Amino acid sequence: MTRKKTSATLPKLTSLRMAWPTDWAALFGAERPLILEIGFGYGAYLLHLARTNPDANIVGLEIASQCLFRAESAIDRAGLTNVRPIHSMAETALHHLFTPASLTQIHINFPDPWFKRRHAPRRLMQPDTLTAMVSRLQAGGMLYLATDIREYAEMCAKLFAAAPGLENTLPDAWADQMPGRVVTKYEGRALREGRACHYFALRRNTLPAPDVPVIREGTMPHMVFRSPLTLDDMLAHFQQAERKEGNTHINFLHGYRGQKVVLFEVYIKEPTLDQHVALVLSYRETEQDFTLKAGVLGYPRATEGLHRAVAILGDWLIGLHPDSAQIDYKLLET
Ligand SMILES: C[S@@+](CC[C@H](N)C(=O)[O-])C[C@H]1O[C@@H](n2cnc3c(N)ncnc32)[C@H](O)[C@@H]1O
Repeated sequence: MTRKKTSATLPKLTSLRMAWPTDWAALFGAERPLILEIGFGYGAYLLHLARTNPDANIVGLEIASQCLFRAESAIDRAGLTNVRPIHSMAETALHHLFTPASLTQIHINFPDPWFKRRHAPRRLMQPDTLTAMVSRLQAGGMLYLATDIREYAEMCAKLFAAAPGLENTLPDAWADQMPGRVVTKYEGRALREGRACHYFALRRNTLPAPDVPVIREGTMPHMVFRSPLTLDDMLAHFQQAERKEGNTHINFLHGYRGQKVVLFEVYIKEPTLDQHVALVLSYRETEQDFTLKAGVLGYPRATEGLHRAVAILGDWLIGLHPDSAQIDYKLLET
């Protein structure tokens, strides 16, 4: 088996471990205009942005690890210091990493390569995400989007027309060509296969930034309780369970026995953040007292959703035996 070499010099950045919001000047070591590319794929366009904007800081967002690895290696090889790829869902970064009016440009190339009705809830271009983009662009800032899917272009044209903070800079809703662009992987494929590409270019006007809700964060949650049951008893009772509270969806997937702990694998979906975490149940000082808290696996953020996951699981564990009792807790008030 061959092992992939990872980038030697670039720090691996992920929005889950970065400060919300991020101090970009400190991260880049220089206060410069900030340009964002969302879903940079293999990174050709990201590198092009870095080369053609030496006086700007370039941030790229990707969810695919393989793309991050490729881009990081290419940036290393090119010796570019004004560009940072970040492992993040665009929705998370737009809401939490960037402050209003902090970006001068946003570039989106060939998002969502399929246009099916059942994919609609997962599409990048959604009203709430566009509102976050509008908020994060500064007045005069530009939003560029390219797609080879006619229906996607039509959908975006409607979304953009309904965004009061954006003004179209083109004679029509989109252009069929955008000279001077470096051709991305998906663009090259579309052109080779004879599909037309549609290019948007919108300018942020001077209307005030729209409101963008951000997830409430607290300190790491925990619950301490007493129970006559053992770790094995509790694990034996565990069954997969789902809970939906408002826009937050919590899925308690599996329980696993470790030497001195039980790990609960939990998926927490909040409007701008998906977290896949482990909640750890362990004995405290005696085998009658237990602590339930978020483990470090998955780099959990102490969001309201994580607090709810600990509270729901903790209450359920306490409810397993009438002689159980809560002793202590640290949880966000809901
Ligand atoms: C169809 S590919 C296009 C890649 C590249 N921009 C190009 O034109 O060749 C879409 C890319 O966006 C990434 N992506 C999809 N949804 C995303 C999201 N919510 N946040 C960040 N990246 C995303 C995917 O991993 C994929 O690499």
